Amino acid sequence: MKITHTLTALVALIALSGCTTPTRQHMRIANVKLAESEQKMAAGEWTQATALAEEAGAEVKLGIEARPIRKGAGGGDLDMTPLFAAWLNGPHHELVSALGANQAERATAAFAATRQQCANCHIAVGRPTIPVSGL
Ligand code: HEC
Repeated sequence: MKITHTLTALVALIALSGCTTPTRQHMRIANVKLAESEQKMAAGEWTQATALAEEAGAEVKLGIEARPIRKGAGGGDLDMTPLFAAWLNGPHHELVSALGANQAERATAAFAATRQQCANCHIAVGRPTIPVSGL
């Protein structure tokens, strides 16, 4: 009887959390923040757009830190840390810089490059179908 209750509670807990992991939760938030950042840019709210892009970067960081080593698409262990650093210091840095300078054309290109590199990391872990907003 007790075991049944424990099991029921466990199943409910898993259902409520959507079988998710810390990495996935942070990634989902990053995805939303990036979309919101682009909306703020379109509305001319540059300060908020910049802040949201920075927050998206912080969420991806937390997601990677939660589990930096994964099975790569090739089968062996893959350290996500350099992939994350390349993303943060490359297209994401350019995005934050363009938004901070209120430059729409530059930021639009940087949004695309940032998202493409989000997707590149998913490809590296054999998960090419992960949906990245705006791609
Ligand atoms: C350095 C690697 C890396 C980068 C960069 C990265 N991700 Fe991810 N992302 C992952 C990994 C690994 C997972 C798989 C988590 C899992 O399934 O356990 C993931 C999962 C996801 C998911 C699926 C969440 C779910 O509900 O299952 C989304 C959405 C996502 N990422 C969005 C993004 C977005 C948007 C960006 C860029 C702003 C980004 N990711 C950048 C590694 C990365």
